[in-house]
Amino acid sequence: MTITFIGHGYVGLVTASVFADLGNTVWVIGHTKEKIENLKKGIIPIYEPGLEEIVKRNVRAKRLLFTLEYDKAISSSSIVFIAVGTPSRENGEADLSSVFEVSEKIAQHSTGYTVVATKSTVPVGTNKKIKEIIEEKKNPKAEVDVASVPEFLREGQAISDTLNPDRIVIGTESKKSEKLLLELHKPIDGNMVLTNIETAEMIKYAANAFLATKISFANAIAHLSEVTGADGLKVLEGIGYDKRIGASFLSPGAGYGGSCLPKDIKALLNISQKNGYDFGLLRQVHKVNEEAIKRISKKAKKVLPDLFGKTITVLGLSFKPNTDDMRDAPSIPIIASLKREGAKIKIYDPVAITNAKKIIKDIVFCKDPYEACKDSDLLIIVTEWNEFKQLDLNKIKKIMRNPAIIDGRNIYDAQKAKELGFNYVGVGR
Ligand code: UGA
Repeated sequence: MTITFIGHGYVGLVTASVFADLGNTVWVIGHTKEKIENLKKGIIPIYEPGLEEIVKRNVRAKRLLFTLEYDKAISSSSIVFIAVGTPSRENGEADLSSVFEVSEKIAQHSTGYTVVATKSTVPVGTNKKIKEIIEEKKNPKAEVDVASVPEFLREGQAISDTLNPDRIVIGTESKKSEKLLLELHKPIDGNMVLTNIETAEMIKYAANAFLATKISFANAIAHLSEVTGADGLKVLEGIGYDKRIGASFLSPGAGYGGSCLPKDIKALLNISQKNGYDFGLLRQVHKVNEEAIKRISKKAKKVLPDLFGKTITVLGLSFKPNTDDMRDAPSIPIIASLKREGAKIKIYDPVAITNAKKIIKDIVFCKDPYEACKDSDLLIIVTEWNEFKQLDLNKIKKIMRNPAIIDGRNIYDAQKAKELGFNYVGVGR
């Protein structure tokens, strides 16, 4: 099948590459000449394990074609996926201007029968508007159906999530479009949820909101455990074995971040408000998350009552491991708060430093964790990269000025760290 993706961010580039790898001819349309020229050479604009190989392989096989032009790609495609960004506006609502802009362009170039499927996360009712735009602008001979096919991949494991999804959600307005989308997804195993467009749009927000709720619940229980003397990690382990609850997304720590959960929570709150529903639960989810992030710097002030002039090491900057994505990363407010108190910050991250340099100023970027820990008064783990899990803590103790750790992701054995002589503070224990 020949298909098109508009947008080459995490969702667009990963999904396009996977469909190309499955034997389809896939066009990817972008709007930045430099990025498209790089992609044609297999140089990708993001860090995602395994993605570069799959892009290169399919570029070589001429199944993955990058372009700035709409005409050839759209007119030759049976399905056109919209995978552009929907960032938060000031009031939390999703900014749909890119989605509507590309819809007009699709309309101008569509011929024959085309399914326009939205992968971008969009509020309920958006596909109806896309349909109106396309109907108004398209050639009368062209026939277009819209569909909602939300994406559930996680950064850092995006390719395996796309190839082995828990479910594939397809929301359509006609049997004809449903059949075509089913045909495309045939080689991918996963529970199929076939539904209408509005339901598919809502499933995406409901999923991210529920994941955020689980994390905030874990952070609230972790905090309560700390103040009551319970072991929060054991409590969460104890509830996670219950199949009705499930163990995943119950890790307390420095809060959730990234380009999806924070943005989608704000957008769902905005949708609720517009529809006259006070989604108080979700407001609390957001509040608990902000508290969890703030608590890391509060703990730093407890360990080192006067932060002024102290050297603090932060390990891990990206919003989670295996990505260089700094969007809404908890490390940003944590570092800002420590700097406000007059601390000198040394940081290390395996891949996010280039992106971090654009956002975080006046700090010392180090080339490895040991350099970052040298002469430091406090080590804070913000992102649980694998390479931090087996650092030589003996060596770190020797090179630090003051052996103290705030383990914002609970990667170390608290008992062992204390035996080594560290003042160790985790989350929930
Ligand atoms: C999230 C969803 O998990 C995907 O299903 C969805 O497709 C994606 O958003 C999206 O909407 O595009 P992602 O943002 O890549 O994926 O990352 P997650 O793995 O969900 O992690 C989000 C944040 O939650 C990270 O900061 C992570 O550190 C934090 N987290 C996660 C916790 O603090 N505790 C946990 O137990 C799990």
